[in-house]
Amino acid sequence: MSDYGSNNTCCFKCIQFILTAGLTALFIWLSLRTTKPSCSLENFYLPALNKSDNSNSTRSNHTLSFQLNLNNKMKDKGVRYDDIKLSFYYGTNTSFPIGNYTVPGFYQGHDKKAHKKGMLETQKMPWNDALKMVSNGSKVVFRVDVATRVRYKVILWYTKRHNYTLENNTVKVDGSGKSSSQQLHCCSIGLPLIFLFSLLLLL
Ligand SMILES: *[C@@H]1O[C@H](CO)[C@@H](O)[C@H](O)[C@H]1NC(C)=O
Ligand SMILES: *[C@@H]1O[C@H](CO)[C@@H](O)[C@H](O)[C@H]1NC(C)=O
Ligand SMILES: *[C@@H]1O[C@H](CO)[C@@H](O)[C@H](O)[C@H]1NC(C)=O
Ligand SMILES: *[C@@H]1O[C@H](CO)[C@@H](O)[C@H](O)[C@H]1NC(C)=O
Ligand SMILES: *[C@@H]1O[C@H](CO)[C@@H](O)[C@H](O)[C@H]1NC(C)=O
Ligand SMILES: *[C@@H]1O[C@H](CO)[C@@H](O)[C@H](O)[C@H]1NC(C)=O
Ligand SMILES: *[C@@H]1O[C@H](CO)[C@@H](O)[C@H](O)[C@H]1NC(C)=O
Ligand SMILES: *[C@@H]1O[C@H](CO)[C@@H](O)[C@H](O)[C@H]1NC(C)=O
Repeated sequence: MSDYGSNNTCCFKCIQFILTAGLTALFIWLSLRTTKPSCSLENFYLPALNKSDNSNSTRSNHTLSFQLNLNNKMKDKGVRYDDIKLSFYYGTNTSFPIGNYTVPGFYQGHDKKAHKKGMLETQKMPWNDALKMVSNGSKVVFRVDVATRVRYKVILWYTKRHNYTLENNTVKVDGSGKSSSQQLHCCSIGLPLIFLFSLLLLL
């Protein structure tokens, strides 16, 4: 490079700097990029709505059980969950809260799935209404909200906490007392902040 004039050397260095900076930014962005875990609910079951079990003990069993599945699809980053709060409602809005459940926070390694079972005693559930619905063949609708905060583990460090909330999701239960598996929709932010952070690192 020394046989170029000083102007050319300067120009070359300039281009080299821009390329290096660009590649570094790209690399940092790629390695800090995060994907939200996906979330689904299955085995949502209320024995009292099981039409094939007519025993009194089952009719008066007011429990609700479910399994929460969380899937971290990232190949190189872990996820640390704070306590996961689930709120259950009768109907499609929040007018009839019937119970809450908290899954204790935990760490999920990269490319791992977690299955968390839970059971709660429902409160103020309009059972007569619900039983009428399933006995004439219609479905009972429940709303489930999920709220927690997550930190992503990038190599050795944790990012700051990001809200992870899933709201306004509905689960439909028929006369088997059970729902089919339900994917929950997510609305949490993360990516734009990470991108800004990597740009800041560069400057
Ligand atoms: C409903 O009750 C019947 C009779 O007890 C039982 O065989 C069946 O497994 C129950 N359904 C579910 C989804 O657990
Ligand atoms: C179930 O409860 C009803 C009234 O609540 C009663 O008449 C019936 O005998 C009970 N059945 C059993 C098997 O206990
Ligand atoms: C209610 O039903 C659930 C699920 O079938 C069962 O695990 C639980 O022991 C029952 N509770 C009572 C009080 O019968
Ligand atoms: C909630 O939904 C029920 C019908 O499913 C409706 O009657 C009620 O007004 C709704 N409440 C609110 C606050 O939207
Ligand atoms: C669920 O938790 C909320 C606060 O997070 C509380 O206001 C509500 O009463 C709880 N519902 C039940 C049924 O315990
Ligand atoms: C079942 O009952 C519910 C309310 O009681 C009613 O809204 C619905 O239309 C009924 N469905 C059928 C198929 O009769
Ligand atoms: C995160 O959730 C908390 C309540 O859980 C709320 O106060 C806060 O505004 C949320 N932050 C963002 C960025 O949405
Ligand atoms: C919740 O979902 C229903 C449809 O399932 C939609 O009509 C309603 O506008 C939603 N509410 C909010 C607050 O997003």
